[in-house]
Amino acid sequence: MDRIKIVAGNWKMNRTYVEGRQLTLDVLEALKTLDVLVILCTPFIHLQNVKNIITDIANVKLGAQNCHQEASGAYTGEISAPMLKSVGVDYVIIGHSERREYFGEDDAILAKKVDVVLEHGMHPIFCCGESLDIREAGKHIEHVTTQVEKSLFHLDEEAIRKLTIAYEPVWAIGTGKTASPEQAQEMHKEIRSSLHTKYGDQIADRMPILYGGSVKPANAKELFSKPDVDGGLIGGASLKAADFNAIVESF
Ligand code: PGA
Repeated sequence: MDRIKIVAGNWKMNRTYVEGRQLTLDVLEALKTLDVLVILCTPFIHLQNVKNIITDIANVKLGAQNCHQEASGAYTGEISAPMLKSVGVDYVIIGHSERREYFGEDDAILAKKVDVVLEHGMHPIFCCGESLDIREAGKHIEHVTTQVEKSLFHLDEEAIRKLTIAYEPVWAIGTGKTASPEQAQEMHKEIRSSLHTKYGDQIADRMPILYGGSVKPANAKELFSKPDVDGGLIGGASLKAADFNAIVESF
């Protein structure tokens, strides 16, 4: 199955306005000719500016890292899906493990966030992944497929087609420890197979499933060569244009 190839950069809480502008300009030069969909998931303050810079580049899209589950209201300090849409955001990361851990986002809240992003015409990048103790207890597959079921399986076929899933083992995020290509492949295959059981062949075969967790130029090629790994969600290495571009080019 020839699925779309995606590399998304998750800047997390890094880069000032001026630094973010420069980073965007630096990554673009190399990326615009490639047959890979690149999504820049920036902090909110950069969105409008990055949108202006990438606007004519077909394979580069704008992403946010979170949004509130309600469309508007008295939620001081939060940002809503219609606000993101209004500056041209195409993708929104939902359920990153840092949001789950530090901000108490559970499966039910994440299901609502997925809905609000879809209702406003954007694409969720839904993150899932297990901690080290869950993996060591041999419960990682059950844990991850349950996360996917609880936050996504209320969606109908038309809605689920708009999703991208990112498998990010928590023990591999920002730690320098990458899942082996075999561990990534095993989990991606399980996620795809649960999609298959719920939604059938077509949807399961088309779903982009990205791997995230210490992806770098040195390991990207091997990870991306696995049949069910359709790209990466890149944290630390997305902050250095040369590294990010090398990862994109490793396809
Ligand atoms: P990392 O982060 O590449 O720095 O491990 C990945 C992520 O959290 O999306």
